[in-house]
Amino acid sequence: MSMGPAVLLIAGVAWTVLETATATEWSCAKPVEIEHGYVEHLIKYRCNPYYQLRGSGDGTYKCDEDHAWVSPEAGKEVPVCEPVCGKPKNPPRQMQRIIGGLLARKGSFPWQGRLVTRHNLTVGATLIGDQWLLTTGRNVYLNHTENTKPEEIAPTLQLFLGSQKQPALGIERVVLHPSYPEAVDLALLKLKQKVLLGEEVMPICLPQKDYVHPGRVGYVSGWGRGATFAFPNMLKYVMLPVAESESCRQYYEARNQSYWVQPILSNDTFCVGMSELREDTCYGDAGGAFAVQDPDDDTWYAAGILSYDKTCTAAKYGVYVDVQRVLAWVKETVAAG
Ligand SMILES: *[C@@H]1O[C@H](CO)[C@@H](O)[C@H](O)[C@H]1NC(C)=O
Ligand SMILES: *[C@@H]1O[C@H](CO)[C@@H](O)[C@H](O)[C@H]1NC(C)=O
Ligand SMILES: *[C@@H]1O[C@H](CO)[C@@H](O)[C@H](O)[C@H]1NC(C)=O
Ligand SMILES: *[C@@H]1O[C@H](CO)[C@@H](O)[C@H](O)[C@H]1NC(C)=O
Repeated sequence: MSMGPAVLLIAGVAWTVLETATATEWSCAKPVEIEHGYVEHLIKYRCNPYYQLRGSGDGTYKCDEDHAWVSPEAGKEVPVCEPVCGKPKNPPRQMQRIIGGLLARKGSFPWQGRLVTRHNLTVGATLIGDQWLLTTGRNVYLNHTENTKPEEIAPTLQLFLGSQKQPALGIERVVLHPSYPEAVDLALLKLKQKVLLGEEVMPICLPQKDYVHPGRVGYVSGWGRGATFAFPNMLKYVMLPVAESESCRQYYEARNQSYWVQPILSNDTFCVGMSELREDTCYGDAGGAFAVQDPDDDTWYAAGILSYDKTCTAAKYGVYVDVQRVLAWVKETVAAG
């Protein structure tokens, strides 16, 4: 007769497993020898919903001869629960049509952040992890002069995620893209604390491939001004197609540059046209994601970040920073902490 393994299951808030694992918890007793068999000491780590294990297989660790927990994949490294991205509970679809966009249901755009400037203007931001967001450089500089330093701006910003009842989150650090403001209107925001993820707060995934092809439809959400130029208190969204970049470039080159605020166009941007229903993005939507659903893995990716939100059905093209083209900078900045 042999006995099955003794399994201990540990479940907690995603990262408490890590932070409370003390040296004694992390050591284990020697496997006990019994007649014609043995008791194998196993520990199985699981992440809470909205997190997944990274690099430790299914989270099973065995007690080795040195009284240490060892996993075949991670060795003696403790397991890490990392955020699940791009899997909204209620993916956006066409319903509840209203003037100038659709009303988002709860949990449709869980990556949508609301950035509030010191003069109380609301703009967009996009959650890409449990502590970092993307927004535009111009958003960050609203109500600040151009020679203000990012570290002076950070404490003047407030960020809101999830339901309207959630308290404001502080920004620890603002990192501008090295090509801002000439070519890339982008900034990373680091929150003071990690946020707990759930149905209403979930990051969008960074693109693993190129989704920016003319005609490809994406979803853009925001609290920007609608047809009446009032800021709505409900999140809205529109579905818009990627446009031909050459037509867009020519369109903005021909416009009276002294009269209009011009978009920042470069090799790292792409343009998006208006929908057939003349729905569009408008003031305050910048910082939101051009979210595309990849049918191959049923996951949502941030193909772009809305930079030029001054179209409001009057101009033909919205302009987005192409996230895939700035991916190396995003990953390096986030990894550096
Ligand atoms: C911003 O809004 C808050 C809360 O509504 C209010 O107390 C504050 O005076 C406003 N600040 C400005 C600059 O309008
Ligand atoms: C910031 O906003 C306040 C209130 O609208 C305004 O008085 C002030 O001039 C603005 N400052 C800058 C630098 O834009
Ligand atoms: C551009 O707009 C300005 C301000 O409205 C106007 O004075 C100027 O004549 C316009 N130029 C052209 C070429 O339309
Ligand atoms: C942008 O792309 C064009 C065409 O590929 C190239 O000729 C140009 O040098 C690029 N510009 C920059 C700033 O990289």
